[in-house]
Amino acid sequence: MNLGLGGKRALVTGGSSGIGLATVRLLLEDGAQVALCGRDADRLDAAAAPLRERFGDAVLPVVCDVRDEAAVSAMQGRVFDAFGGLDILVANAGQGRIGTFADTDDAAWRDEFDLKFFSVIRPVRAFLPALKESGAGSIVAVNSLLARQPEPHMVCTAALRAGVQNLVKSMSIEFAPDRVRVNAILLGLIYSGQWQRRYEARSDPAQSLEDWMAALAEEKQLPLGRLGTPEEAASAVVYLASPAAAYISGAALEVSGGISRFA
Ligand SMILES: NC(=O)c1ccc[n+]([C@@H]2O[C@H](COP(=O)([O-])OP(=O)(O)OC[C@H]3O[C@@H](n4cnc5c(N)ncnc54)[C@H](OP(=O)(O)O)[C@@H]3O)[C@@H](O)[C@H]2O)c1
Repeated sequence: MNLGLGGKRALVTGGSSGIGLATVRLLLEDGAQVALCGRDADRLDAAAAPLRERFGDAVLPVVCDVRDEAAVSAMQGRVFDAFGGLDILVANAGQGRIGTFADTDDAAWRDEFDLKFFSVIRPVRAFLPALKESGAGSIVAVNSLLARQPEPHMVCTAALRAGVQNLVKSMSIEFAPDRVRVNAILLGLIYSGQWQRRYEARSDPAQSLEDWMAALAEEKQLPLGRLGTPEEAASAVVYLASPAAAYISGAALEVSGGISRFA
């Protein structure tokens, strides 16, 4: 399927690992120019180097913490200098926080609020004029199924994910007259950075990745019997970002292997 991404200019926040990096790769393979950011310069360089070899100046790595307004503004300057504007923004940077209500203090609530909301708000604010100018701008927020189906061990993250989903809907309505679409994907369990770190910290070091994943799929009752891959999540992001989804805005696409329990 031709998604019509040739000549599009994209930014993927948190593009140095996992789902973000898979999204960067798919966008480049479909002909887009892609900026990617992360906080850790070494990790970003390691991710971008092979892509630059293959796609040259179409790849723009920028060190940036998306919670930092000045850093996001500097990133905007770099992207505009290199690409002259932006058509696609993928707000993907972040991670989940494990914790019940009882063990989440005020500082943790504030930190999580800062990450979940400002990782969307700051890049959107910085790039919205360019997305409007594009005439076919598109924003995709990488969110979690927790937004609709909270889990007792991720209380704070789930509550804020729900708020972000509400924000996505509001933005989709507000930006529609300027032809900027806003959508989200709602992820279940995708085997990328967060799960890799949990595998590495497993209680039984002799347990293979395959056995660990099978046990997790069983424990979480994943209907498709396995975790998703970063590429499977990225395909959904790229589709929603692309002209192939030109009449889709305000939507939430589940990428969860069928784990949701709501109709
Ligand atoms: N994997 C899942 O099962 C799952 C489920 C639900 C939601 N999600 C969400 O999907 C997104 C991608 O997760 P992933 O699984 O692909 O995790 P990952 O492999 O750990 O990737 C996270 C990326 O975000 C970057 N990042 C984190 N905080 C950042 C910040 N403040 N500013 C800029 N970049 C930042 C990381 O780079 P640096 O650390 O170098 O900054 C990295 O590139 C996250 O928002 C995550 O919460 C994932």
